[in-house]
Amino acid sequence: MTTNRPFSDRVTHEKALFKAIARVANKLRNFVRLLWGDPSFLVMSWLARFVAVRETVARRGSYEPSGTIEATVMHAVAGVCPVESPAQVAALIRANGYYEGFSLRPDILAGLLDFAQTNPCYVNRNPDHPFYIDDREQLEQTLGAPILVAGYLDSHESCAAYQAMRADNYLLDVASQYLNHRAVYMRGELAWGFPAPNTLEQKLKMARVYHCDINDYKTIKFFFYLSDVRAGDGPHVYLQGTHLHRRFRHQWLGQGCASICDRTLVDIYGSERVRIVTGPAGFGFAGDPYCLHRGTVPQHSSRLLLQLEYGMNPYRIWYFSGL
Ligand SMILES: [Fe+2]
Repeated sequence: MTTNRPFSDRVTHEKALFKAIARVANKLRNFVRLLWGDPSFLVMSWLARFVAVRETVARRGSYEPSGTIEATVMHAVAGVCPVESPAQVAALIRANGYYEGFSLRPDILAGLLDFAQTNPCYVNRNPDHPFYIDDREQLEQTLGAPILVAGYLDSHESCAAYQAMRADNYLLDVASQYLNHRAVYMRGELAWGFPAPNTLEQKLKMARVYHCDINDYKTIKFFFYLSDVRAGDGPHVYLQGTHLHRRFRHQWLGQGCASICDRTLVDIYGSERVRIVTGPAGFGFAGDPYCLHRGTVPQHSSRLLLQLEYGMNPYRIWYFSGL
């Protein structure tokens, strides 16, 4: 005996099937793009999800610190925010997955803020929608919706203060000592986060759920708050120590850990590992992006964040189209 399924059921079923096919096709297309672009990146993206592989590759490096660092973009304030040696910072990142306590020199901070004020940023990082930060409220009224984030795409590379940071010997030495390889600059971003409600999908897209990033066997990311960031202003959050202590299933998942809900991850690894990083404008921190972390949604004030990432190897391709 045959039963006729209702028409609406068949439509739902077909839609789900098309979505699944589109997902597989997308994955296949991306696989071919990475394979064609740089097979070593493809191999790394799979192997570097395992702690044992990451640590073995790092141990095989042979970075020797160059000696005294004469000048840096860091600001030393005795007793308040001492500049720790690159070796000390690297050791703390090895132990905890992150370090907090950098402070930018006032002239560098002023240069970055001036750049952010006088150059267009882009609605949700869309190159077709530039605007000046002072025009945000007016633009939101025109759009009829709040803007969630705005980035400067690659234009910050033309900022002298950013160039000073990118080539800073102190930051390079921290990165190289942590990676145990001469650090290779990968990319950076200057971006605003604005107070606005986020859906789960938007949080996933904007790295506002716990996740890890695998851009090389090991990388290090430096972050600098360019606006004051208190608990409700969208601080960065780490799950301390999860760069070394990670359940095998979560290693296997790699960047797919983002699909696990935040509450579950905190329950598994322990709420005592949750570290919320707050600080005034100019405050900086660095972390291994493999350590589980997330951004948060600003509730009160807009947050301006600068980040720079260094790795071990130069690759010709990345998950996204740009490098
Ligand atoms: Fe991330």
